[in-house]
Amino acid sequence: MSQYFDNVALPSNIVEFETHFLDNKFRFKTDNGVFSKEKLDFGTRLLLENLPIKEISGDILDLGCGYGVVSIILSRFVDAKFDAVDVNKRALHLLEMNIKLNNSSDITFFESNCYDSIDKDKLYDYIITNPPIRAGKDIVYKMLRGAKEHLKPGGLLYFVMRKDHGAKTAIRDISDIYNSEIICKEKGFFVIKCFLR
Ligand SMILES: C[S@@+](CC[C@H](N)C(=O)[O-])C[C@H]1O[C@@H](n2cnc3c(N)ncnc32)[C@H](O)[C@@H]1O
Repeated sequence: MSQYFDNVALPSNIVEFETHFLDNKFRFKTDNGVFSKEKLDFGTRLLLENLPIKEISGDILDLGCGYGVVSIILSRFVDAKFDAVDVNKRALHLLEMNIKLNNSSDITFFESNCYDSIDKDKLYDYIITNPPIRAGKDIVYKMLRGAKEHLKPGGLLYFVMRKDHGAKTAIRDISDIYNSEIICKEKGFFVIKCFLR
């Protein structure tokens, strides 16, 4: 069965929704075959709400960016440069439209399977992800564990995961690399902050 992140030729049906974050209005174009077509995903909103927005600056990787909610919303509030990557070409096409729709700047986007197309010398202050559970554990762990190679010293990985999707197991399974802290628990979702050991 095809998944939303496959680049399959699902008929296109671009729609638009409006959402608010910290009293700012955002508009997003979405389509069939992308994650959370109807609205800002609850887990992603929780992740954004729990980021230390006042402290964030520097270089940020929006890993598995979809149609761009994390980069586009955060870039309104922080002085930072974003790289946004995904395997889903349709999502990246929407992201390009959404950057214009929201007058966003400082967002570079490109297709990448996890970190595969990211410059080996490029390091980030923050890697932020709502990882693709449906892509399977191998991809999710490649994203979480792989952050180690792409974070500056002192850099942080933030991710959101449902408890029933194995959040506690994930924390345990990456504990050789990171000290993790659950910074929010709400409606079965955990927002997790990881420091390199
Ligand atoms: C849960 S969605 C999150 C999307 C967006 N960041 C949001 O919060 O709305 C996970 C995203 O990861 C992408 N993805 C799946 N497998 C991937 C891979 N191997 N490398 C990069 N991105 C991937 C999917 O296409 C999807 O856009």
